[in-house]
Amino acid sequence: MPEEPPETGRARLGKAASGKVTVVGVQGNDFAWLAREAHEALAGAALVVGGTRLLAAWSSQRSLVDASPGGPGARQIDLTGDLPRAMAEVAEAHRRGESVVVLASGDPGFFGILRALLSTLDRQSIRVVPHVSSVAMAFARLGLPWDDAVVVSAHGRPLEEALGAIRIARKVAVLTSPDTPPEVIGRALKRTGASVDLLAVCSRLGFSDEEVVELGLDDLASGKFDPLSVVVVVGPGGLPIVGWDSKATLAWGLDQGAFRHRAGMVTKAEVRAVILGKLALPTAGVLWDIGAGSGSVGIECARLSPGLTVFAVEKNPEDAQRVVANASSLDAGVHVVEGTAPEALVRLPDPDRVFVGGGGLEVLDEVLARLRPGGRVVASFAALDRATGAAERLGSLVQIGLSRAAPLPDGSWRLSAENPVFIAWGPNLGALDTGQA
Ligand SMILES: C[S@@+](CC[C@H](N)C(=O)[O-])C[C@H]1O[C@@H](n2cnc3c(N)ncnc32)[C@H](O)[C@@H]1O
Repeated sequence: MPEEPPETGRARLGKAASGKVTVVGVQGNDFAWLAREAHEALAGAALVVGGTRLLAAWSSQRSLVDASPGGPGARQIDLTGDLPRAMAEVAEAHRRGESVVVLASGDPGFFGILRALLSTLDRQSIRVVPHVSSVAMAFARLGLPWDDAVVVSAHGRPLEEALGAIRIARKVAVLTSPDTPPEVIGRALKRTGASVDLLAVCSRLGFSDEEVVELGLDDLASGKFDPLSVVVVVGPGGLPIVGWDSKATLAWGLDQGAFRHRAGMVTKAEVRAVILGKLALPTAGVLWDIGAGSGSVGIECARLSPGLTVFAVEKNPEDAQRVVANASSLDAGVHVVEGTAPEALVRLPDPDRVFVGGGGLEVLDEVLARLRPGGRVVASFAALDRATGAAERLGSLVQIGLSRAAPLPDGSWRLSAENPVFIAWGPNLGALDTGQA
């Protein structure tokens, strides 16, 4: 008796076509490029669904690509206009056992129709035959690798969202749209003071009138471009696109007024200056700002060292939103993580630098367990007992007593004391850290 194959619990998915809705990706409008399985699916289709442009292209080319185009009587549904209705009809036709092909642009799983299809069909009922995505094609045309690129879409999404991602990126591809064509991206980039090494608009890829132009920021902002484009931006020398201004002064300890904050929940400028000094920021690596409050420390770190990847962890949702707003208005690349430490730290890459402004010794212990070799931690406290606990773990502690001068009505000056703050730091002790001669 033949042996039963072992029960592996694996589900076989993949290329099997029967009983599935086939989603065919087309780049540009050239059907001659499609894979054989896409042609076969189209030849046997009873229903073909797609946007106006792709349906027209298919109708005009079907005789060129397939000698026996399936379903001379194949129904067509144009999904432009009423996408939910079209998705419901696809699901209904599938249930009736009809062979359905959905035409999509590029890779259907990449900012494409696949997401909408999954609202009415389960993924086991779908077979995707992708083409190259517009972004892959754009980078191919430019002769650039793109495994290190960030892809953002300004297609049907707020421009601010895209800009937030661009700000942190070193290499980015932006999908554009009629509402947000390439020139709008250009103007936004100019406003935020972007610096670029390479800027390109890749339009109508795969069409006969495809155009790929490399240009400067001024020309992008003042030009007029096809909205069916991918804008590729590469920052200077691998540095972030925004926030790296060669004319900027090197200053730290920004005034509290630069940050929106909740009832004084912002590290005082002079205390922050000391914290930044103790952090001894490297030019690259990962920094966590835990208990970020207004985000002032993380934001200053990102501004001073744009090569750092900065995470600001904040448990209060309103404060977290304020960090986003502060980072945006100060052009700082900061990833805001809304959550409570130490749990929220699990998702983050191990740090090279950490500032602990909130959370107790438990957080400090978790930070030390995750700190990368050669890393350092700075923590600030109002309470003496926690500060000494931190000193035992980190090695160094100072207290900063800050008095602000204020004029009196008679023209003389008085000193007004701020609450004392303890700053602990370590674990790498050296001349730099101890402050001893
Ligand atoms: C909804 S997304 C679809 C992306 C598609 N699934 C892909 O893989 O390229 C639409 C955006 O992709 C970009 N795009 C799609 N086709 C393009 C083409 N032929 N040339 C340039 N950009 C294109 C444009 O930015 C367009 O606004």
